[in-house]
Amino acid sequence: MSKKLYGTVFAKKNTKEVEDFVASIDIDYKLLKYDILGSIVHAKMLGKKKIISKKDSQGLVKGLKNILKKVESGKTPMTFDGVEDVHTYVNLLLEKEVSGKVADKLHTARSRNDQVALDTRMYCLDAAEEVALKIIDLQKAILKQAEKNISVIIPVYTHLQPAQAILASHLFCAYIEMLQKDKVRMMHAVSSADEMPLGACAARGTTLNIDRSFVAKELGFLKVSSNSIESVSSRDYILEILSAVNILAVNLSRIAEDLIIYSTYEFSFIEIDEAYLTGSSMMPNKRNADTLELVRGFASKALGALTQVSGLLKGLPHAYNRDMQFDKEALFASLEGIIASLQITEGVFKSLKFNKKKLEIYLAENDFIFATDLAEYLIKKGVSYREAHDVTGKLIRFCLDKKIMIKDITNIQLKKICKYFNKAVLDKLTDASHSVKAVKSEGGTSPVSVGKQIVHWRKALK
Ligand code: ARG
Repeated sequence: MSKKLYGTVFAKKNTKEVEDFVASIDIDYKLLKYDILGSIVHAKMLGKKKIISKKDSQGLVKGLKNILKKVESGKTPMTFDGVEDVHTYVNLLLEKEVSGKVADKLHTARSRNDQVALDTRMYCLDAAEEVALKIIDLQKAILKQAEKNISVIIPVYTHLQPAQAILASHLFCAYIEMLQKDKVRMMHAVSSADEMPLGACAARGTTLNIDRSFVAKELGFLKVSSNSIESVSSRDYILEILSAVNILAVNLSRIAEDLIIYSTYEFSFIEIDEAYLTGSSMMPNKRNADTLELVRGFASKALGALTQVSGLLKGLPHAYNRDMQFDKEALFASLEGIIASLQITEGVFKSLKFNKKKLEIYLAENDFIFATDLAEYLIKKGVSYREAHDVTGKLIRFCLDKKIMIKDITNIQLKKICKYFNKAVLDKLTDASHSVKAVKSEGGTSPVSVGKQIVHWRKALK
């Protein structure tokens, strides 16, 4: 039995070394299901258009469905030994189901160039949907925490220096918001993959009377691709999905980084569940958020995948070139990695806890984060922005020099440094819950605004 789909034109055989070098089965077996599904519809079409006999078409469909059943039950029906790629593999499996003569007919009006384009497009469509669903799961887990901790107050940082007081639920809604944009981006990115490329027949189309629309419809594609050369040359849809994964991975890395920082001993605003921590082989004391570090680190792999496929395609002549075989490793690694990252992050959010005591102490001991409240109080009293900023700045400087907090300033001291404030006003302005409640602007951190966001997400994520 020949393990190749070609050969008679050659006077010489490939060496084992060459066979191994060109083989891709170790990677592209992940397309097995799609290759079989595409083959089933192709076989049906060949019969329908009388390009092969009805009997042969039915035989092929039956054989392919048997193979699909075996594959879906988790069996690897045959070893990959000496098999070049997934397309060859399906043909070899088919030879066990139907006679070799009938099996050979499946490849009528079809090239592996078309097949690999079809299979990767189908993979992308499924994988993008799975990513979108995982994003929704993560959004729901974050939303639950936002609801549960609706009134927990934390500092927000700019330049990683404490800036203002916010509701933690406001920050969590920010995560949900960015993930929403990632989800839309992902679905938009994959829409380019929704074109059925079979029928390119290597590059120029075919003299045989095939029905591409039938194949597209049966496989659930939105349309047939418009140009046979573009069909087999283009991997734009892979670049698009890898770009979307890259942005999502970058966003996840930033969320992971927040959680890593907030869970350190020094911050201890939150506690990551021990199920998501790992230890050190050397230091018995260590409880590390390695899971989140790997989510953060994965962003570099996602960028690597995008860069790899961009580099692969740059300057490639039209139409198909074997270089493109290397697109799949990057594609699979990127999609599998992001799905795993989303799942882990979801688990971390589901089980995380706020250290409310620690946060209360923090807010009581670090009242410079209410400086904006002080300045805005003055503006409301008719003081110009510049003066309000200067006066508040001086007050903070006074505290820094005296090594005290705003709430420690006495009325006597206040008289000397600032005529606008008195102790009662400062006590109110440095109260965390007063601070967040006083925010008026739409999209801000006030309980009203965050409440609206939560109601919105509750409905949107249903
Ligand atoms: N393994 C190839 C790939 O992944 C499939 C197409 C091979 N076509 C060819 N004419 N050699 O791109």
